[in-house]
Amino acid sequence: MPKKYLNYIDGEWCPAESGEWFENRNPARWSEVVGLFPKSDSRDVDRAVKAAKAAFKKWRLVPAPERGAILKTAGDIMVERKEALAQDMTREMGKVLTETRGDVQEAIDTFYYAAVEGRRLFSHTAPSEMRNKMNMSFRIPIGVAGLITPWNFPMAIPSWKSLPALVCGNTVVFKPASDTPLSSEHLVEILTEAGIPPGVMNIVHGGGGSVGTSIVDHPDVNLISFTGSSEIGKQINSRAGAKLKRVSLELGGKNAQIVMDDADLELAIEGTLWGAFGTTGQRCTATSRLILHENIHDKYIEMLLDATSRLTVGDGLDESNKVGPAINEGQRNIVHDYVEIGKKEGAELICGGHPLTDGKNSDGWFYAPTIFSGVTQKMRIFKEEIFGPVLSVIKVKDFAQAVEVHNDCIYGLSSSIYTRNVNNAFRAIRDLEAGITYVNGPTIGAECHMPFGGVKETGNGHREGGWPVYEFYSEIKTVYVDFSEKLQRAQIDNY
Ligand code: UN1
Repeated sequence: MPKKYLNYIDGEWCPAESGEWFENRNPARWSEVVGLFPKSDSRDVDRAVKAAKAAFKKWRLVPAPERGAILKTAGDIMVERKEALAQDMTREMGKVLTETRGDVQEAIDTFYYAAVEGRRLFSHTAPSEMRNKMNMSFRIPIGVAGLITPWNFPMAIPSWKSLPALVCGNTVVFKPASDTPLSSEHLVEILTEAGIPPGVMNIVHGGGGSVGTSIVDHPDVNLISFTGSSEIGKQINSRAGAKLKRVSLELGGKNAQIVMDDADLELAIEGTLWGAFGTTGQRCTATSRLILHENIHDKYIEMLLDATSRLTVGDGLDESNKVGPAINEGQRNIVHDYVEIGKKEGAELICGGHPLTDGKNSDGWFYAPTIFSGVTQKMRIFKEEIFGPVLSVIKVKDFAQAVEVHNDCIYGLSSSIYTRNVNNAFRAIRDLEAGITYVNGPTIGAECHMPFGGVKETGNGHREGGWPVYEFYSEIKTVYVDFSEKLQRAQIDNY
């Protein structure tokens, strides 16, 4: 019998009100059930929100450095458990161990960054117009934060959201992706061991339609942070917007790597492989389009095919493998449907394009790393997010066309250019429509203390990571102190 995991509400581990469970399975060995998780609904969300709302009364008054100290302790616990956490994450999510260790490390980095931020939470002071009066501002917490996270970074993304929320003095109701609930469970266990008080951090497992929607609609949830598809993001934005909630959305991407004819091609190839096929292409930041200068196009394709043929696909727990499975059958079907669409649209399939079902891979959702060349801007495989190991290559004649092709996209998360021309590098920084631009690096590789997010339909203008996320999770209180011992009328007595 697989182990049963629980919700954590008001400091208690508890099953769902429904008494039902859902399975968490290993995408590399589908017959293996990693655990059973509570199938929750609006009743569980309601209990969690009540607890979070009550706990907020005390938590908001805990000094931010003290809140940060709890996160520091939690980060230390995570360091000790890093390997076990990575192993469990590979079992539930599929990506290879090197990457799940990186995912846990990103959470550790976020813990330590948030812990220190508890001593900062800067805001402004400014001079007053009047004599004997002081003007200042403070960051204040908002209330109950509803967090809804995806399966591709099961530990890093929940930490990006929950730790700034907590250190700013909010309480949390958290729904992790139902494909990867175990890593989130571990995150909450560690927070409780580190001393987070009851009701401050609550986790409710279950589906988006039941648990997610209930969090978004609940009148006592004051802000929502969601990472996932643009389609769901738009629905969340209108539902939460109708109640004037603060909403942070991290949505789709169709990120491109540009390789100019003056680039270090060996270096660029390493970047393409890592960007396109790392995490089986299941990153918001994955390289999904490759824009090649015509002078190096043929040679680059040849080098890329050679490098791709050496990628071993298989169970991420076997360290000889470089690429793991798709998260589930549905996702693999989406990938394959796009491959069929690409073929019909007239792109040339030059590698992969099929599920891998032989031998050791027969029980998982593996897909061959896939490359299309001869892609044009009209094709759906050029425009739409696939979220799998599929790379679309397009040829351009010069730098200006590379930028034009790059920007012909409804999304704008991450971008990359490989060039040795310093002027073109700076033009790219200025002109690529994206929240993140890498020069001589792949489209993936964000660090937790830098702002993360995108322009256009990738989001709604907020950033995760770095200092802006602390602004999202707090509001400004402006304070005037008058010690003149008389009525001073601003705008009147001083002019
Ligand atoms: C995501 O794909 O949703 O830069 C997050 C990166 C990682 C984070 C990705 N550090 O690819």
